[in-house]
Amino acid sequence: MNKSTIGIVGAGAIVTSSHLPAYRKAGYRVAAIYDRDIARARAAAEQFGIGRVCTSVEELIADQTVTIMDIAVPPLVQPPIARAAMANGKHLLCQKPLAWTVEEATALVDEAARAGVKLAVNQQMRWDPMVRETRRLMQAGTLGQVINVTLDESVLTDWFQWSWIPPGEYLDLLLHSIHYFDSYRYLFGEPTWVFSAIDKYPDQPEAAETRSFSIFHFPGKVIVSTNVRHKNWTDDQFVGWRVEGTEGMIRGRFGHLDNYPFGGPDRMEYTRRGDTSWHTVEINDKWFPDAFAGPMGSLIKAIETGGEAETNGRDNLKTLAMVHACYRSAKEQRAIAP
Ligand SMILES: NC(=O)c1ccc[n+]([C@@H]2O[C@H](COP(=O)([O-])OP(=O)(O)OC[C@H]3O[C@@H](n4cnc5c(N)ncnc54)[C@H](O)[C@@H]3O)[C@@H](O)[C@H]2O)c1
Repeated sequence: MNKSTIGIVGAGAIVTSSHLPAYRKAGYRVAAIYDRDIARARAAAEQFGIGRVCTSVEELIADQTVTIMDIAVPPLVQPPIARAAMANGKHLLCQKPLAWTVEEATALVDEAARAGVKLAVNQQMRWDPMVRETRRLMQAGTLGQVINVTLDESVLTDWFQWSWIPPGEYLDLLLHSIHYFDSYRYLFGEPTWVFSAIDKYPDQPEAAETRSFSIFHFPGKVIVSTNVRHKNWTDDQFVGWRVEGTEGMIRGRFGHLDNYPFGGPDRMEYTRRGDTSWHTVEINDKWFPDAFAGPMGSLIKAIETGGEAETNGRDNLKTLAMVHACYRSAKEQRAIAP
């Protein structure tokens, strides 16, 4: 059993549907929880057997038994809570996006380094089973040289369930596709350039983009296209995944948006040149909630070993930079190097 003890700020949908079930399954210790809506904190504590419900964030930060603060509140209120926690020596698992801008995220990462605490970001798609299996097949050489990847998403998203989203310039790329971009970095390294088009649907009430099409070029001739649409009102909704290599191909479907935020299983098959059929990859875990054990587990290991979490803040700045490179590309109608 590791020595880390978690205190959670926020008892909203993602904490109760994903963080807490995943932590329970993984055996992580959660000692305390705080939400400014105390009834939510109490309900989560009761459901998941958390011993202490705090009545202020200061009370949670002052709890000497808590070594990691798991922050899952709206992005714009995250930075001040993170700052107060790091000033009191807590390690941090922050939500994506770490901050609204690369500049503010960089300031947070620098401050955590100065405070001597570890800061990781909850970009758990890297632990999604299909992403892990894709990487495993790539590393085993099963696909030959991967040259093309397509993520094709057409879903119906109720953005108004997150009443805290400011009606501003950012929606899909910063709050949603950021997960895909982080997984691309995990699989293919750092992109050399991106070209992006974003737009709204006619007459949509949301103030920012609900459609995005981004093409990334990675070293090794890998081209990744991400085509996301959020207003598919039919019963045929999907997040498709195609990975094309010189010797093998993957076809699959991510299940994370089936019955959100509970999610369904990914479905994945691959074939190799010369094979007469596709091979089904057995997948038991799900992105929601199982992958949520990943970033926390990686942070706990980093604390114990003195290493770095896989999704550490410094690394995550590059994911956030991809997002903002897309916005800039769309605005300036040209390719941008993140
Ligand atoms: N990693 C992922 O896959 C993923 C998925 C969904 C949401 N998120 C992120 O998680 C965060 C929460 O999202 P959600 O879907 O749970 O939203 P939600 O609206 O269901 O819950 C937010 C919770 O934060 C509480 N809160 C707001 N301000 C607070 C404050 N100052 N102090 C304490 N509590 C406060 C609210 O009372 C509410 O319970 C957001 O940052 C979102 O971007 C991440």
